[in-house]
Amino acid sequence: MEKIYFDNNATTPLDPAVRAAMLPYLNECFGNPSSGHHFGEEAFAGITEARGQVAALFNCPAKRIIFTSGGTEANNTAIWSAIAAFPEKKHIISSTVEHASVLAPLEFLQQRFGYRIDLLPVRRDGALDLQLLAETIGPDTALVSLMGANNESGVIWPLAEISELCRQKKVLFHCDAVQLIGKELIDLEILPVDYLAVAAHKFHGPKGIGALYVKRTAPFSPLIMGAGQEMAHRAGTENVAGIVGLGKASELAADYLKSGESAVMDLRNRLQERIMADIGEVIVNGAGQPRLPNTLNISFKNCASGAMVQELDEMGISVSAHSACHSGDLDPSHVLRAMAVPETHIHGTLRISLSRFSTDDEVDRLCEVLPAVLAKSRQGVAV
Ligand SMILES: Cc1ncc(COP(=O)(O)O)c(C=O)c1O
Repeated sequence: MEKIYFDNNATTPLDPAVRAAMLPYLNECFGNPSSGHHFGEEAFAGITEARGQVAALFNCPAKRIIFTSGGTEANNTAIWSAIAAFPEKKHIISSTVEHASVLAPLEFLQQRFGYRIDLLPVRRDGALDLQLLAETIGPDTALVSLMGANNESGVIWPLAEISELCRQKKVLFHCDAVQLIGKELIDLEILPVDYLAVAAHKFHGPKGIGALYVKRTAPFSPLIMGAGQEMAHRAGTENVAGIVGLGKASELAADYLKSGESAVMDLRNRLQERIMADIGEVIVNGAGQPRLPNTLNISFKNCASGAMVQELDEMGISVSAHSACHSGDLDPSHVLRAMAVPETHIHGTLRISLSRFSTDDEVDRLCEVLPAVLAKSRQGVAV
């Protein structure tokens, strides 16, 4: 059975060119980048090249990029840097739909250190109220932490306006851009973003590697302390092959985005239109807002998403109900709750996320089987 992978917001397959770039660093170029001999220098050169490739994707100086173990560590490091710089400021603003790697540290700060955390609500369509954001920023606000694009709904927030607002209000701005990267160009020479979190595995790079962009004027405190790796910003012997993979994935993403290629969005739109035409009473979450070109988050009336995901999986089609970190949960996600998806539909939500490797045939296959899958799911749901 041909397997179809439509869960690219959870993770993406490695691009073959990324794998090829990484392989030497898993084989002959195995040196410790801190070693002063040939092997070390070779590994160090790989890291240096990768830093340049990541920086080129964001149009920022290479020395502003710090490699981390992924998006989670990048987000935690940004939050830590802001609070360490301003211990007297005990207020942080974020949103109700952030990823757990932002919400969990904020909850910890609230519970353990008495921080006031304001989580901004979203509208029914997933949009953020910028007026409310402006009104919520106060003299004791240490940080505004808002995502670039939501991992479930795919809704994209206006990075330029948010970052400019924070700049005017003189408050640090951290953006969890993990889902946005590789799908939209981000120019950090123009955008006044203080911290930007990156995860390679969301754009055809390897897992367990990410980066944090830190603006020249933004405070920084290492989260992981030890020896002097990463310009003393992140201790621990580097994941050289991972870093090289992130660099290559960044280079490929930059080429792809600059080519203006829109095949993924066309495919997603075709999938959406066909589902809407074939199956009545669906809600496309985030419709009407700018969305990630690869993401379709759609709620079906009186269905059970768990059963649909399982049934599709048995047919060789991988989709998800919500984010991978919560895929064991049967309850609707905090994102769908925050977007107030109606009770009739919220339990029957699928996140279908494509990639540049997705094909027309795969979309056709999903459209063919979906009506029967829904019908079967409805049999098990009390209407
Ligand atoms: C929006 C968002 N932020 C952060 C992360 C965490 O990234 P990582 O898996 O690299 O730790 C994810 C991963 O699902 C994500 O979707």
